[in-house]
Amino acid sequence: MALSAADRRLIDSLVVEDRSRGTFRVSRRVFADPDIFAMERELVYDRVWLYIGHASEIAQPGTFVTRRVNGRALILVRDRRGTVRALYNSCPHRGAVICKEHAGTARVFRCSYHGWVFDTAGKLADIPVSDAMFPGYESDPLLNMREVARCEEYRGFIFVSFDPNVASLDDYLAKSKTFLSYIADQGEDGMEVVDGAEEYCIEANWKFMQENSVDGYHAMATHSTYIEYSIARDGPKPNFNPAQNYGRVEQLGNGHSVSWSVGSTPWGRPYARWTPAWGEEARLEIEEIERRIVVRVGSERARIICHSDRNMTIFPNLAVHDIMGITIRNLMPTTHRAHDIVSRALAPVNESDSSRLRRMRNYVEFLGPAGLATPDDVEMLEMCQQGIENNLDYSWNDVSRGMCKDPDQQTKLDEAQMRTFWRRWKQLMTGSELEVVGA
Ligand code: FES
Ligand code: FE
Repeated sequence: MALSAADRRLIDSLVVEDRSRGTFRVSRRVFADPDIFAMERELVYDRVWLYIGHASEIAQPGTFVTRRVNGRALILVRDRRGTVRALYNSCPHRGAVICKEHAGTARVFRCSYHGWVFDTAGKLADIPVSDAMFPGYESDPLLNMREVARCEEYRGFIFVSFDPNVASLDDYLAKSKTFLSYIADQGEDGMEVVDGAEEYCIEANWKFMQENSVDGYHAMATHSTYIEYSIARDGPKPNFNPAQNYGRVEQLGNGHSVSWSVGSTPWGRPYARWTPAWGEEARLEIEEIERRIVVRVGSERARIICHSDRNMTIFPNLAVHDIMGITIRNLMPTTHRAHDIVSRALAPVNESDSSRLRRMRNYVEFLGPAGLATPDDVEMLEMCQQGIENNLDYSWNDVSRGMCKDPDQQTKLDEAQMRTFWRRWKQLMTGSELEVVGA
C-alpha cells in the first residue's frame, strides 16, 4: 500500500508528543476508524514478525496446528525431516481450506475437494487421475502449498512474517529476548504449552488490549477484588508493598516493553515464590525448585527468574506474562472495534503434578476468562471502546504519565510502555525510518 501524502499527514497527526511540556496524546480516531484498521493490516501486520505458536505444540515430525494470523488461515507444521514450516491452509488447485483440524499428526495433507495430496512440507505428492495433467506438473512449484515468506524460532517461540525482506527475528525481538530467556530457562527439560487454550473475543479495538497488557497503573483500581482476596487469604506478606514498590519499565526496542517488579505483587509463583496459601509441604518443594534453578543458572539470574513478576508485550499483538503463571496471550484483530484473544499457559516439561496444579489454579484464578481479573479487563476495554464512540470529535487519549521523568526511572505506574508502542505504530504507519526513543 502506497500512502498518499494526505494519508501520511493524517496518520502523523494522530500521535502527538510534546517533550517540552511532557505530554503524549493519541487521537481516539485510531480506535474507531475502519480505514485506519485496513491500513494497519498492511502497514503494520504485514511488515513485522507475528507470533504463531510454540515449538512444543509441534514437537514431533508430522505434528501440526492450524492458526489464523493477520486474518489468514495457516498450518504450522514440523515436516517429516523436522523442519518447522508455516503453510497457507489453502489448496493450490482451487483454493479450498485443506486442513480442518485444530491440531494433529499427519503423514500427508489431503484436500477434500478433489483429493490432491501434499506431503508435510507442502509439496504436491499425488493427484487423482493424474494422466490428464500437463507434462512436468509434478515439479511445477505453483502446484505446491504456498509457504509463508518467513518462519523463525527463538527459544521455542515461533513467529512468521509475510514480508520476505523483514529483518531477522533475532534482530526484531531485540532486548525482549532477555525476558523470553528468563522463561525458557525455567524448565530443566524445556518448556511446553499446556493442553487447551482460553479463547474469547472483546468488542474493543486491539490496541486497547495491547496497552492493557503492560499497564501496571490500572491494577489497584481494576483488580482490587483479586488483590484484596489474595491478601485476605494469605495474610500480609513481608515483602509486599505495592504503595512503595512500583517496579520498573524497560523499553526493549521495536515497540516491545516490559514492566517488572520484585515484591510488589501478592501472589505465589510456581517457579518459584512460595505463598502461605500453598501450605508448608509446598514450601519445601518450592525451595527445592529454586535451589535447582540457582545451580543451573546462578544465583543472580535465579533471583530474577524466581522472584520477579514480568509483564511483557512484543509488538504488535503478543503479550508474554510471567506472573502467577506464564501466559502467552495472542490477540487477533477482526474489525476496527473487535478482536479475538487466544491465551495459552506455558509450563516446565516434567513439572511435578503438585506444581502443575498450583500453576494452573493460579492461572485460571487470575487470568482465566472467568477468573478474578480478565473479565474486569475485558469490561474496561469494552467501556473504553463505547466511551470513545460517544464522540469522536472529542478526541485525545492521554498517555503522558512519567513523560517528564528520566527514561531509566519509569515505573509500572508510568506509561512509557504505551508510548514505546505508539511510537513504533506511528513509525510503521507513516513509513518513517526515524529512530524512536524517549521516556
Ligand atoms: Fe483442493 Fe481441488 S481444491 S483438490
Ligand atoms: Fe488487568
